[in-house]
Amino acid sequence: MPVLDTVLLNVWHPVLFSSGLEDRPVPVELLGEKVVLFRTSKGVHALKDLCIHRGVPLSLGKVRNDEIVCAYHGWSYDGCGACTLIPSLPKGTAIPTKAKTPSYSCLEAYGMVWLCLGEPETDMPRIGTRGLLPEFAQVFMGPYEVAAAGPRVVENFLDVSHLMYVHEGMLGDSGFAEINDYRVHDADGGALRTDEIEVYQPDPDGRGVGVNTFYTYEIYHPMSVSLTKRIAGSDDIFHLYLFVAPKNEEKSLAFMIMERNYAFDEPDETFVAFQDILLEQDRLIVENQKPELLPLDLQAELHLKCDRLAIAYRKLLSRAGVSFGTA
Ligand code: FES
Ligand SMILES: [Fe+2]
Repeated sequence: MPVLDTVLLNVWHPVLFSSGLEDRPVPVELLGEKVVLFRTSKGVHALKDLCIHRGVPLSLGKVRNDEIVCAYHGWSYDGCGACTLIPSLPKGTAIPTKAKTPSYSCLEAYGMVWLCLGEPETDMPRIGTRGLLPEFAQVFMGPYEVAAAGPRVVENFLDVSHLMYVHEGMLGDSGFAEINDYRVHDADGGALRTDEIEVYQPDPDGRGVGVNTFYTYEIYHPMSVSLTKRIAGSDDIFHLYLFVAPKNEEKSLAFMIMERNYAFDEPDETFVAFQDILLEQDRLIVENQKPELLPLDLQAELHLKCDRLAIAYRKLLSRAGVSFGTA
């Protein structure tokens, strides 16, 4: 079924870490569309994952001479989706002009392969409003496949009052569950940003040191958000960016980039292992929420003051006209 959600169609979504795309084609799914990615000497390419001859996924084939070759009868397609070779045709016979498969915009940035099924609004994907900071250490996390609609996964990330319950002993303590009042403000580049929210965390990042933290959440786009943790009494700053690529309305792929200006000697594994545990805790919640699609009607669920950010997120989705993954 064609996706009519132009907001999600026209944006770059990460679909794979670059390291996962070598000399073999890789199938991915985005917004219900099956796509094959392949790498040639010219870069990365994305085609509809379907050979037009007999409907075999091109991802079952191989890459040869900078083209993708179907596994069934060896038809070759170039990076633009044009069929360049049909081995069974007698020599001198022209390739039918209809012999082509749709291609999509695709590029590599920040160590990831990004895909846009529509008309990209920007030349390059964006990380927040200022990009990654050179003086910070970055750790790439995921991708985590979650059996939930994209907006459910994003809203869970933006939910501050779950930290003391879902992540008790790590990101919160149920003895300190009260959330200070905060507001959501318009920020640069059309983003939304919260005031600081104080959260006591027994273990904020996997190193096991309990601290008071101050959270600021930012929403840049319906599927791209971040949080900043300022550690009380120090200059330590922690940013966590989340990008959710909806595979379809029931499944999403979550990529995260964490960056910090402290603990430079700590191995990446410490932070990745910690995030992996948090993700499993969140998974249990988001994969079981009802309704599965995020309700945009604000009367549909009960909201408290501490849910101001979720309300702002739902309003943003409504205003933008995001229909994929919402109800
Ligand atoms: S199905 Fe692909 S070449 Fe025949
Ligand atoms: Fe969580």
